[in-house]
Amino acid sequence: LIAKPVHKEADKSIGPSFTDVAKKYKDDPNAVTYLVNKVIKGGSGVWGDVAMAAHPNLPESDARQIIGWVQSLANDKKQKSLPAAGKVNATLDKPAIDNGILVISASYTDKGNNNIKPLSDQTLVSLRSNKISLGIAKNMKEYTRRTVNGRRLLTVPAKEASFSIDSIDLSLIRKASLIVEWQLPSAAGYIFELYLDSPTGQKLASFDLPGGGKQSTNGDYDF
Ligand code: HEM
Repeated sequence: LIAKPVHKEADKSIGPSFTDVAKKYKDDPNAVTYLVNKVIKGGSGVWGDVAMAAHPNLPESDARQIIGWVQSLANDKKQKSLPAAGKVNATLDKPAIDNGILVISASYTDKGNNNIKPLSDQTLVSLRSNKISLGIAKNMKEYTRRTVNGRRLLTVPAKEASFSIDSIDLSLIRKASLIVEWQLPSAAGYIFELYLDSPTGQKLASFDLPGGGKQSTNGDYDF
């Protein structure tokens, strides 16, 4: 991650430490929107004269995940450091939530030696939930978005249509499920197809939703 050499978790370097950022915006209800926008667009003046580089290619969903992790650093109750090998309790004994993110951060500082100062490094990975809200769909052709009771849905159009979901590595994925809901069973059938990279890319799977007013359940795609 590009942020790594510039921001450290706990100490100031070129940019402010993520713990300081988390504390500064702890009680600010607009913090997520503001910080996501700032990371993507860059800028200066809040922590000093040095400007943060813009990250126009960072998907907004990734920026939100990183900011979610940054905000978690404001909790004073720090998790105890884990051993170098072992198991992670992914949900910290809380129920898993659909938009939950597990951020694993690893860092070390060695002891250095005569005339060699201690070296340190840090990296973090963020693993998101395996449930994807279609609210993050991009490149929509014919599809429209709507929100029902806080859930962000896509309306399936009558015409041939497509949308994409960015930044998902499908290489180890063996199964995908599609959740389709309707007020009345559909008279016409639908075929949903899953392609890699673009609608002209490699076809991974296809799921037929029967028409004729038949009731149908959710579909599983086996790769
Ligand atoms: C994806 C990677 C990055 C993330 C997630 C990130 C995140 C942040 C956040 C949340 C802030 C606080 C913003 C505010 O309070 O207004 C910030 C500020 C800052 N960042 Fe980054 N940053 C990243 C990469 C970089 C890079 C590559 C640079 C090097 C130029 C940089 C330099 C700075 C500086 C100098 C500030 C202070 C800006 C100010 O005073 O307004 N950051 N960063």
